[in-house]
Amino acid sequence: MKNMAEELFKDFREHSVSEFFRKNAAMLGYTGKIRSLTTVIHEGVTNAIDAAEETGVLPKIVVIIKRVNDEPEHFRVIVEDNASGIPEEFIPNVFGKMLAGTKLHRYMQSRGQQGIGVSGSVMFGQITSGKPATVITSTGNGEIIHADVMIDVDRNEGKITNVEKHKGKWRGTRVEVEVKDVTYMRSRYGPFNYLRMTAIANPHVHVTFVEPDGTITILEPATDKVPERPKSMPLHPWGIMSDDLLILAKHTKSRNVVSFLSAELSRVSKRKAEEVCKLANIPLNKKPSGLTWEEAERIVSAFKQVKLYAPPTSGLRPIGAADIESGMRQILNPEFVHAINRPPKVYRGGLPFIVEAGIAYGGSAGKTTGNEEGEAGMELIRFANRAPLIFDQGGCAITTAMRNIDWRRYGVDPTTAQLTLFVNVVSAYVPYTSAGKQSIADEPEVLDEIRTAIMEVAREVRKFLYRKIKIKERQERAGVFEQYLPIIAQKAARLASLKEPDIKPLLKKVSGVDNAEEES
Ligand SMILES: Nc1ncnc2c1ncn2[C@@H]1O[C@H](COP(=O)(O)OP(=O)(O)OP(=O)(O)O)[C@@H](O)[C@H]1O
Ligand SMILES: [Mg+2]
Repeated sequence: MKNMAEELFKDFREHSVSEFFRKNAAMLGYTGKIRSLTTVIHEGVTNAIDAAEETGVLPKIVVIIKRVNDEPEHFRVIVEDNASGIPEEFIPNVFGKMLAGTKLHRYMQSRGQQGIGVSGSVMFGQITSGKPATVITSTGNGEIIHADVMIDVDRNEGKITNVEKHKGKWRGTRVEVEVKDVTYMRSRYGPFNYLRMTAIANPHVHVTFVEPDGTITILEPATDKVPERPKSMPLHPWGIMSDDLLILAKHTKSRNVVSFLSAELSRVSKRKAEEVCKLANIPLNKKPSGLTWEEAERIVSAFKQVKLYAPPTSGLRPIGAADIESGMRQILNPEFVHAINRPPKVYRGGLPFIVEAGIAYGGSAGKTTGNEEGEAGMELIRFANRAPLIFDQGGCAITTAMRNIDWRRYGVDPTTAQLTLFVNVVSAYVPYTSAGKQSIADEPEVLDEIRTAIMEVAREVRKFLYRKIKIKERQERAGVFEQYLPIIAQKAARLASLKEPDIKPLLKKVSGVDNAEEES
């Protein structure tokens, strides 16, 4: 009789990571005709801003969406930056290899963290249009490279199908991806709104956007400061597990466990490391590569018994209250705006994060610009490390926190309020719920901080709305006086056979609205 297992296991195969994401493109955000197009823009724009900031220049981004052959669902998407450029030998891996990049192994805030963003959009272009992506890049060495790149899905490798070089003075990168089966719309989920949100959270970025019908929109920067580059932060012992420790031990250059712990972890001095080794009963001169699982577990629990400084936040770069306010002012032109910046906190025991919030009233706040649906009411705009989160709103900690607040206590009816609420969560490692990076997981500490931040700005809006109501009441009262006082004065003077008094100063006094603010 045939062996069943042998029969079944004849089909046992290995899958490359590219093959996996080719079949599961939805996991990277390629789902739906509008969302897929916005995802291509998102991947290009986050890379462009990350690269410009790392180069230390003010990001100047050009985004162009062109129709191809006048077909309704066929576009060429172009994202250009003025950043470092990409060295020729890295082009295949940047655009054609998934899970590869300069940001995944370090512990520092950036928009990208997975090494799959741009290769994902090259893949999406390839599977919908059959065309390679075109990359034009120069590191500023006088040579401009023009390369067509495709992904070899079986090997998870980039293949350059055509390359040309010419001389020219320019530095930056221009990525062009041709995509089919997508729709361009100026809706809340479309590229226009995505870029508008990018501008709010990145007031130092200059964006030029060309829509398929040729409309050009320029989003001017509200500041000319490049955010300071965050520093890479080692892991902190509070957030570490035995497995993390053993992986670090495998790659360290340190020769003994004491110097290993102090070199690879933050807030651990040599003395602290010795104290921990003694508590964990590990010889101080033990080679890190020789650590066993049990020893690693003992070290992790010994760290819980010693006093340590809280994790550093040098790897975090929040936007800052003043810049959030200028970003919101620039884009929403509101009557009132207020932003706050919470102090750093940690989640899962050791991963630092900061929450920032802003609120704007009036102007175009509360309405999604370019919104064809004409929706009204309070608008929530979510960000992680300054990158807009547009999709998967329902499953995000920011949405949960906003919904858990009783807005009536702040004088706000969320269904009609002309308010835009802004929340940005920054961390060297954002706890996203999926590879599509569009919503933040409900980590209790993160959720709590977001809620506190929203309540802080909501209190300011309550004060503002109260003042506004007071001023309106006064104006109405003054209107009544203005209408009747002159008549009363005239009649009273006639009755008393007196000269009609000059009531203008009196009118001015009762209609004065200047002191309404003091009353609030
Ligand atoms: N415009 C650019 N200029 C310079 N380098 C770039 C640019 N775009 C991408 N890179 C490099 O290519 C790498 C891969 O980019 P990719 O978008 O795939 O991943 P990531 O940005 O690291 O992470 P994520 O998957 O979260 O976006 C980046 O880490 C960066 O080193
Ligand atoms: Mg990226």
